[in-house]
Amino acid sequence: MDDYAVWGNPIAQSLSPLIQGKFAQQTQQAMNYEAKLGDLDTFDQQLATFFSQGAKGCNVTAPFKSRAYQLADEHSERARLAQACNTLKKLEDGRLYADNTDGIGLVTDLQRLNWIKPHQRILILGAGGATQGVLLPLLQAQQNIVLANRTLAKAQTLVEIFQPYGEIQAVAMDNIPCQSYDLIINATSAGLSGNTAPVSADILKLGQAFYDMQYAKGSDTPFIAHCKHLGLMNVSDGLGMLVAQAAHSFHLWRGVMPDFAKVYCEVKKEIP
Ligand code: ATR
Repeated sequence: MDDYAVWGNPIAQSLSPLIQGKFAQQTQQAMNYEAKLGDLDTFDQQLATFFSQGAKGCNVTAPFKSRAYQLADEHSERARLAQACNTLKKLEDGRLYADNTDGIGLVTDLQRLNWIKPHQRILILGAGGATQGVLLPLLQAQQNIVLANRTLAKAQTLVEIFQPYGEIQAVAMDNIPCQSYDLIINATSAGLSGNTAPVSADILKLGQAFYDMQYAKGSDTPFIAHCKHLGLMNVSDGLGMLVAQAAHSFHLWRGVMPDFAKVYCEVKKEIP
């Protein structure tokens, strides 16, 4: 049995062990995958011990994604541009390789929904770590991105980093161009603080489809609930992205790509 884990704090609610267990079963891989509570002060040592005991890889979630990135010896381009990693793999020579599968997970889920075609106009709400983690794969999928943030300077900083990779412009959240958007993605943490709408209803009504990178067990996220309230029904939360980023991590570790859409359907049925 090869050992894997997801590290985060908090971690008890993580669906990753369920998802990775299903991938292992589906592809007949002998692996053990557990949720591990990282300690805010001693995470570096915890991770070193985990790998010195023979673990082959892990996922990393909040608040350790940039710390894990710094601890790795080698980085994929998408992890480097994100300055964060959600996947670590122990290489044959013992060094740690960092990848970030969040963005390719989002693109894979948008493909499942049939919501991604080249040269679409996407409005992304929010310019924090979640957005930085997904921009490269979206630009590589030839998406034309309008990046809106409450604090304009943060959106401008991301645009400076990502401009060499495709079409992307920064705007203030209260100065979003009034044009139609094929897709509006919520990447703000607004819903978490009980503030349901990071942007006005007039702007949301310019969208054709709505994706929330968050998901909530057993209910609509505040953003999705708000869209539905406005009569905007072409909506999806981030559960598919969660399963798809896990599938890409699994592929990196095991060299086998699981059937993510099948596992997504199973997980959706099983979670309360
Ligand atoms: P994460 O890692 O989840 O992206 P983060 O890096 O703290 O977390 O970023 C949170 C994002 O949500 C930011 O874009 C933030 O906007 P600011 O940069 O202006 O702070 C955005 N955000 C949080 N609460 C918001 C709200 N009530 N309305 C609009 N944007 C909000």
